[in-house]
Parts: sequence; structure tokens; C-alpha cells
Amino acid sequence: MSTVNPEPTIVSLDKGTHYLCTCARSQNSPYCDGSHKGTQFQPLVLELEAPQTVEVTP
Ligand code: FES
Repeated sequence: MSTVNPEPTIVSLDKGTHYLCTCARSQNSPYCDGSHKGTQFQPLVLELEAPQTVEVTP
């Protein structure tokens, strides 16, 4: 069962480092929750210098 929303997700992120899921296993989509361990996937790392709203497309 996939936990990724098939529609793009708009998220407001604070300044700092954010880890977004690329494996579709996260129970906290669109954020990485470590469920990719044991797969070939790695989270997408976003380093933001200021708060920003981003669109995450699965
Ligand atoms: S849980 Fe999907 S990349 Fe980490």
C-alpha cells in the first residue's frame, strides 16, 4: 500500500534542512521517516536559507 498522495502537495517549510521522501514508503509523506532503509532510495535533502512554500510531486 502506497502512502504517497498522487496529487502534488504544497508544504510550507521553515528555514533549515528538510528531508523529503522519494521511496513512497513514508508514513509521514511528503517527509522522509526512515522507511527507505534497505531500499535503493535516499531522501531528497532541501537546505533552505529562509522559509519557503514548495510543491512536492510524488
Ligand atoms: S522514507 Fe522515503 S525516502 Fe525516506
